[in-house]
Amino acid sequence: MKIAVVGTGYVGLVTGTCFAETGNQVTCVDIDVRKVERLQKGEIPIYEPGLDVLFDRNVAEGRLLFTTSLAEGIKDAQVIFLALPTPPGEDGSADLKYILGVANDLGPILDQYAVIIDKSTVPVGTAEKVHAAIAKNAKVDFDVVSNPEFLREGVAVEDFMKPDRVVVGTTSEKAKKVMEKLYAPLVRQGNPVIFMDERSAEMTKYAANSFLAMKITFMNEIANLCEKVGANVDDIRRGIGTDSRIGKRFLFAGIGYGGSCFPKDVQALAKTSKDYDYDFRILKSVMDVNYDQKKKLLPMVENYFASDLKGKTIAVWGLAFKPYTDDIREAPALENIEALLAAGAKVVAYDPEAMTNVKGILGDKITFTHTPYAALDDADALMIFTEWPQFRTPEFEKMGKLLKNKVVFDGRNLYELDQMREMGYTYYSIGREKVVPA
Ligand code: UDX
Repeated sequence: MKIAVVGTGYVGLVTGTCFAETGNQVTCVDIDVRKVERLQKGEIPIYEPGLDVLFDRNVAEGRLLFTTSLAEGIKDAQVIFLALPTPPGEDGSADLKYILGVANDLGPILDQYAVIIDKSTVPVGTAEKVHAAIAKNAKVDFDVVSNPEFLREGVAVEDFMKPDRVVVGTTSEKAKKVMEKLYAPLVRQGNPVIFMDERSAEMTKYAANSFLAMKITFMNEIANLCEKVGANVDDIRRGIGTDSRIGKRFLFAGIGYGGSCFPKDVQALAKTSKDYDYDFRILKSVMDVNYDQKKKLLPMVENYFASDLKGKTIAVWGLAFKPYTDDIREAPALENIEALLAAGAKVVAYDPEAMTNVKGILGDKITFTHTPYAALDDADALMIFTEWPQFRTPEFEKMGKLLKNKVVFDGRNLYELDQMREMGYTYYSIGREKVVPA
């Protein structure tokens, strides 16, 4: 098939590359000239494990092209993906200006039947709006389909190539056939392509992300209560996750969810509820709890230093909102660092992938190091914000010699309590007792 993908962000680039890998001819379109030039030179603008191999192969074999011209990109395309940003507006609703802008431009240049696919996470009713925007000037028949993307950053290629399910919202039989053909190579193992109407597909994406955000938030609240009653959230997680109705995944308590999806999507679903005069109470709690959770370690730090952080050096491990990505959108690390700086502390940080992005925001307000251990040298304490695997089994003795105080504030529960006690650390984590040296 000939495919166009409009928008080369995380979702667009992964979609384009993976559909080229399944044998389609793909052209990715983006208005960002510099980004397109880099892509044409073979440079991938994001860090996503496994994407480079597929990208290089499909570029080399001529199946994956890049252009800034929408008309050139959609020429002869049977399928046109819209993978454009939907940033939250001031009131929390998803801003559709990019999607509707492209839809307006598409109308006059469509020259044959095409299936136009909303891949971005968009509010209920967007497919109808996109349809109307194209129809204003279209001379040919077309369908607009809602096909939300469920990939996770960091495992995007794997999620895309082996999806648990594919959700397709369309009532057009013609579009349905195209979508079946397109996804056939990705669902060979029997995972379903679930067809529904456009509005239900749009709602499915918000329901999925909000449910997952709620699941994490529930565990964060259990963790907060565990601290008060003297229970261990790790044991609770094992105790409830083994119930197949609950499931083992997404039960890890920590310093709140971040990233480009959960915060935005929970907010947008709350806004949709408000627009339809429905009081979606759980969503409000999810947002409230997560707001507080992200700053949860700060009072512990303040308490440890008797509210005097002036001149203290805090080492930070992990800046990305989660491991295997350089994405720092809504990352808890950033808010915490800003608060530490405001309190007069110095921050020395290490992250395997996200330091360049943070430097872009914080400049030289903080210091970056090339190794995790270099960040600890003469620091007064260590704070951990991202569970990169390399932080899981560090050399505790070496750490202890570098740090001025053997104290760790861990937002991701990386270490065993007994181990920290034996090693002589003061150790704060989430939903577990505070460890003081034996
Ligand atoms: C999410 C959805 O999982 C994906 O289906 C959707 O397409 C986009 O949004 P992503 O934002 O890449 O994907 O990250 P995800 O792995 O889901 O993690 C989201 C946040 O939840 C991270 O901040 C992570 O640290 C946090 N999290 C996750 C927890 O705090 N505890 C958990 O148990 C799981």
